[in-house]
Amino acid sequence: MAKPLRIALTKGRLEKDTVGLLERLGYDCTAVREKGRRLILPIPDGNMEVVLAKANDVITYVEHGVCDMGVVGKDTIIEMQGKFFELVDLGFGRCKFALACKKGTDFYSGFGVKCIATKYPNVARRFFESKGMDVDIVKIEGSVELAPLLGLADGIVDIVETGVTLRENGLEVVEDVVPISARLIANTVSLKLRQTEIEALIQKIEEALSK
Ligand code: PRP
Repeated sequence: MAKPLRIALTKGRLEKDTVGLLERLGYDCTAVREKGRRLILPIPDGNMEVVLAKANDVITYVEHGVCDMGVVGKDTIIEMQGKFFELVDLGFGRCKFALACKKGTDFYSGFGVKCIATKYPNVARRFFESKGMDVDIVKIEGSVELAPLLGLADGIVDIVETGVTLRENGLEVVEDVVPISARLIANTVSLKLRQTEIEALIQKIEEALSK
């Protein structure tokens, strides 16, 4: 038998939805569900192997060809870009990038250069470039909402899902940047070498998503 098709999964929320999708396709994901601390898990009846990784690393592993495919959020794809194929919008992991600031403040007022805190500097830079607006961007690693509250930034460009984090911290959306959802990606060489298997999997996924 050919070596298993290796799929890198973004750990956490997308992992759960992806496992749910694979099970809907009829694959036995017991090993993934009972993974303990293991990071590479077999799906024997699909001749597949799941690799659990952080979002940025999913792209790195797929780009380098050590994983044939990956499931990662469009947020990470837009931020990191890179050389791989984006094959399917999986429809789950829906959220958006948005510009937010302290409630009741007018973000666009005044003439000074605004400071923007974000985990996604490329997304933020491109958003403001598209407006022809010069901003200072400060990279923050997590809980970006803190930056305007502490007085470091005038606004944030971040992921908004339910909006609860913004609301509970006295912030509000100024403008939506772009919608986000989970995407199936593939290594460019794998897509050629394992075209039949990958296309068969894509077809099954698209059928399941259309139901
Ligand atoms: C993300 C994002 C927001 C929050 C938005 O953070 O950066 O903080 O989720 O979700 P909500 O609109 O449903 O409240 P995450 O949970 O990934 O944690 P992090 O900030 O530590 O990265």
